[in-house]
Amino acid sequence: MIEGRFAPRFTAGPLTLPTLGGHLVLRRPTEADLDAVVAIHGNPATNVHNPAGPMKDDEQGRALLEGWLVDWRERGIGYWAVDAVLPEEWEGARTLGFSGVRHLPAGPTQVLNLYYRYAPAAWGRGWASAVARRALDAARAYDPETPVIARMQPGNLPSRRVAEKAGLQPVGFDLAGRPVLADRPLPRSVVKGLPLV
Ligand SMILES: CC(C)(COP(=O)(O)OP(=O)(O)OC[C@H]1O[C@@H](n2cnc3c(N)ncnc32)[C@H](O)[C@@H]1OP(=O)(O)O)[C@@H](O)C(=O)NCCC(=O)NCCS
Repeated sequence: MIEGRFAPRFTAGPLTLPTLGGHLVLRRPTEADLDAVVAIHGNPATNVHNPAGPMKDDEQGRALLEGWLVDWRERGIGYWAVDAVLPEEWEGARTLGFSGVRHLPAGPTQVLNLYYRYAPAAWGRGWASAVARRALDAARAYDPETPVIARMQPGNLPSRRVAEKAGLQPVGFDLAGRPVLADRPLPRSVVKGLPLV
């Protein structure tokens, strides 16, 4: 059933989750993901480091999701919905979070922004890092010339660690003072040219 929703390009194969006897599926999101987008982004626990705070309503969720769907339609790459597909006794599939890469303008060029946000129940199992590594693979398959970056609030240590484990290294700070990590050295014009969102 879920297989039918796979995007043909730049999706990863299943990742094994041995502890639960299931696997993760990274798939192109659809409009049907609105509830999961709002639940995960509206949870105060997933926004402790987000100055804007949790998502407030469905309208914000729809706007965020619509942007992600446009990425896939127009660019052929974007953030994935991350499902845990579990044995029947665990009641099948469940969306744990959202992760992947999407285009972002950066001064004179474009970069691919690495993203991850998961329901707290999924934290601390190494899954975010495993998916982030798959996202790096997907980005390189898509276009090895486009740098991959991640940025986070200075105190968001789990986020920074996931970026490091995906192979990114510090390249400077954006105009808001957030550390920027990337898969290659980047000129100052690119780092300082990242949008303030
Ligand atoms: C960021 C996030 C995806 C990490 O998920 P996770 O399930 O903890 O990730 P993983 O288990 O793959 O790895 C986390 C790493 O951070 C480390 N870590 C966790 N808490 C930490 C802390 N307080 N200080 C330092 N390192 C920490 C873990 O030990 C692990 O590193 P290790 O494997 O070297 O031990 C998750 O916390 C989340 O969704 N947060 C809310 C959204 C968010 O902040 N997204 C990033 C926005 S920039």
